[in-house]
Amino acid sequence: MSLRARVVTLIAGVLLVSILLGTLVAGYQARHALSAELTAAMNGARQTVASALEDLPQSDHPARDLRQLVGTFDGNRHVRASLVTADGGVALVSRTKPIDQPAPAWFGLLLGSPPNSVEVPLPPAAVGFRAITLTPTAGIDVSAAWREFIGIVAVLLGCAAIGLVLVYLVIGAAFRPLHALAAQFGRIGTGDYSGRVAEHGPSELLSLQRGFNQMASELATTTERNRQLGDQLLTIQEEERADIARDLHDDIGPHLFAVNMDAQMIAQLSDAGRPDAIREQVRSIQAAVTHMQRQVRAVLERLRPARITELGLNAAILDLVRFWTLRRPEIAFNVVLLEDEAQLGEATKDVVYRVVQEAANNAVRHGDPRAVWISFEVDEARVLSVRVIDDGPGRGATTSGAGLGLIGMRERVTALGGLLSFGPNPGTSGWTTTATLSLDAPTVGRPLAAVNP
Ligand SMILES: Nc1ncnc2c1ncn2[C@@H]1O[C@H](COP(=O)(O)OP(=O)(O)O)[C@@H](O)[C@H]1O
Ligand SMILES: [Mg+2]
Repeated sequence: MSLRARVVTLIAGVLLVSILLGTLVAGYQARHALSAELTAAMNGARQTVASALEDLPQSDHPARDLRQLVGTFDGNRHVRASLVTADGGVALVSRTKPIDQPAPAWFGLLLGSPPNSVEVPLPPAAVGFRAITLTPTAGIDVSAAWREFIGIVAVLLGCAAIGLVLVYLVIGAAFRPLHALAAQFGRIGTGDYSGRVAEHGPSELLSLQRGFNQMASELATTTERNRQLGDQLLTIQEEERADIARDLHDDIGPHLFAVNMDAQMIAQLSDAGRPDAIREQVRSIQAAVTHMQRQVRAVLERLRPARITELGLNAAILDLVRFWTLRRPEIAFNVVLLEDEAQLGEATKDVVYRVVQEAANNAVRHGDPRAVWISFEVDEARVLSVRVIDDGPGRGATTSGAGLGLIGMRERVTALGGLLSFGPNPGTSGWTTTATLSLDAPTVGRPLAAVNP
C-alpha cells in the first residue's frame, strides 16, 4: 500500500470514528430530552383530564363533555386521548398530527421507549363510559430528530470527503519530487551520474534534493578523475614498455648478432685449424655477453620485483643472502636485521632493499671478499643506517668512478631525504656502502645534512 493511500485511509478512519462518536453523544442527549418532554406532557394531560372530570357530575350532557374533552387533544404532539366505553370498546380517539417523514424503526428504538399509557377512570356520572386512556406519542419528535440527524451526518460526510480529497491531492503534490528522486537514484544505480533533480518543494525534501545533486556531481567528478587516471596509467605503461622494447632492440639485438657472427667465425677458424684466432673471437663473444648482461640488469632494475611487499623487508634481505650463498658458498654473509621493520614506511623499505641488493651485488662482483656484513640500525633520533661492508681486496675499478648502480642508489636515497656514502674502507681492504634515512617524515629531496657529514 502506498504511503499516500495509507495516510488517506487513516484520516478517513479517524473521521468515521468521530462521526460515529458524535452521533452517539447527540443520540444520548436527544433520548433524555425526549423522555423528559413526554413525561411532562403526560403529567399536563393527566391534570387537564382530572380537572375536567371534577366538573362532570354537574354537567347536563356528560357524554358530550367527555367527547369534547377528548377532542381537546386533537393535534397534540405528545399525547393521544381515547374514550373507553363500559364494555371496553373505544368510543373516540383524539387525532394526532400526521407525520410527513417517519423515522426508521431502529432510530425510534435508539431514542428509547416512551412512558406507559395511563388510564384515568371516569366517575359514575359518565354513564356508559369507563375511562379515558392517555397514550404518549413520540412519532413527530423522533421524525424531527431523524431529519436533524440525517442533515448533520450528510454535512459531516461531505466535509470529510472534501477534506480527504484535499489531503490526497496535497500529499500527491508533496510526493511528486520523491518520485523524481527515485527515478534519478535508479539512473545512478545504472552508472549514469548526469541526472539532477529540481530543488523545490517542502523544506524536508529540499535538503534531500540538494544532497542528491551534490552526491551525483561528486560521483561524476570522481568517475571522470578515475577514468583520466586509468588513461594516464595506460599511457605510462605503454611508454615504459616501448622504452624497454627499444632498449632490448638497440642494445641487445646488435650484440646477439655479433655473437652469432663470432660463433660462425669460430666454426670456420676451427675448420681452418687456427686456434689462436679462435681465442680472439671468444674474447669478443665474452665482451658482447658482458655488455648484454649489463643491459639486461638495467632492464630488470626497471621491472620492479614485488618481493618486498610480499615477504616483508627482513625476509626479502634473507632471501637475497640465500641467493648469493647458493652461488658463492665461500663468502660468509653476516646479517643484523631490524627487530621492528614496521616502523619503516613502504617507500623506505623499497629503497633500503634496493641499496642492499646493489651493494651486495657490487661486493660479490667487484670486491672478491671472504665476508660481507649487512646491518640495520636505528638511533635515538630515529635515523636508520644501512651498511653493507665487505673485506674484499677489490679487482680494480671496472668503471671510472660511480657507475649506474651507485648513481641509482644515491638517487633513490636522496629522493627520500636521505644520504648515501660509499668507498673503500680507509686503511684496510674492502668497501663500505652506507645509506642513512630519517624514519620521521622523510622529506623528498631534502638531504639529511645534520646526521650525515
Ligand atoms: N664493494 C666494492 N668493492 C670494490 N669496488 C667496488 C665495490 N662497489 C663498487 N665498486 C666500484 O664502483 C664502481 C661502480 O659501481 P656501480 O655503480 O655499481 O657500477 P657497476 O656495478 O655496474 O660497475 C664499480 O665498477 C667498482 O669499481
Ligand atoms: Mg653495481
